[in-house]
Amino acid sequence: MKILVTGGAGYIGSVTSAELIAAGHQVIVLDSLYQGHAQAVPPEATFIQADLADRSALARLFAEHADIDGIMHFASYTLVGESMQKPLLYLRDNLVYAANLLEFAVEAGVRRFILSSTANLFDEPAKMPIDEHERIVPGSPYGESKFFIERLLHWYERIYGLKYACLRYFNASGDTPGRGEDHDPETHIIPLILQVALGQRPQITIFGDDYPTPDGTCIRDYIHIVDLAQAHILALGALDRLGSRKYNLGNGSGFSVMEVLEMCRKVTGHPIPHVIGPRRAGDPATLIAASDSIRRELGWAPRYPDLESIITSAWAWHRTHPHGYGR
Ligand SMILES: NC(=O)c1ccc[n+]([C@@H]2O[C@H](COP(=O)([O-])OP(=O)(O)OC[C@H]3O[C@@H](n4cnc5c(N)ncnc54)[C@H](O)[C@@H]3O)[C@@H](O)[C@H]2O)c1
Repeated sequence: MKILVTGGAGYIGSVTSAELIAAGHQVIVLDSLYQGHAQAVPPEATFIQADLADRSALARLFAEHADIDGIMHFASYTLVGESMQKPLLYLRDNLVYAANLLEFAVEAGVRRFILSSTANLFDEPAKMPIDEHERIVPGSPYGESKFFIERLLHWYERIYGLKYACLRYFNASGDTPGRGEDHDPETHIIPLILQVALGQRPQITIFGDDYPTPDGTCIRDYIHIVDLAQAHILALGALDRLGSRKYNLGNGSGFSVMEVLEMCRKVTGHPIPHVIGPRRAGDPATLIAASDSIRRELGWAPRYPDLESIITSAWAWHRTHPHGYGR
């Protein structure tokens, strides 16, 4: 199939583009490089540097590539904390960018759409692990913006027959030999801890060790980006057969911040000093995905379910790319 990947120069989108190409698909990447890196785009992909705000660029893209079979939409503002400071970047811009994309896509006859959604839809889970029946209570303008886009897709299916899948990911993690996590600012725990092992930070701060968990630190569900990429490819391939779907997507097992830190110490051989800071507002004690639906319906299973293989893959990339893609 010919697939348009928005945000394909970013962390998850670039790895998914590479996996799509390895599976025999043709890939067009659209990315503004607001966060991503041109070097992360697979050389076999057609790369269009453009912003989803630029409607004339979208018109040109769909005129030049009239035969796009599906879209994977990764491009987005992605930071929960930033969304609490600048809500309109999320509540307005994330929505407008998706709406621009959908408008031109449907006009061009695109029939399939995969959305990067988020675990931040579930701020007050009634039970753990969190399945697709959980009540949606977005935890931030970021989560709300993804919910808006899920609703947009609902109406685009009803009105235009677009088939879509919303993949609500938990914590994307790990790297591949050629592509890795390089955000500015970096907010994710594994690269932050590995920056200590690389001598780029003196220590790591753990936000709270008095949560109701076995070691007192927060428990999160870490899913390897290759497993995420495979879930996208499976979801795309199943749309015609199964129709639109919403899947929660994680490993299904949680690891505490302290377990992540200990594993980073083991994998890097570095003592990685830490300090305990106060809790961060809005951090729930435990967030774990129930991924039973996607396992059952699509036969998806993580290839990297254990913390050691996730962190080993991340360390391999960060050790060989201490300054990421070279900033
Ligand atoms: N990283 C995670 O743990 C995680 C968890 C849940 C959901 N998600 C979602 O997955 C997607 C990818 O996340 P990521 O961590 O790879 O982020 P990322 O920032 O590495 O990648 C996003 C890419 O989109 C591009 N982009 C942003 N706005 C754009 C615009 N207006 N026009 C064109 N390109 C634009 C950026 O330049 C970047 O390359 C996002 O939608 C994010 O919300 C990520």
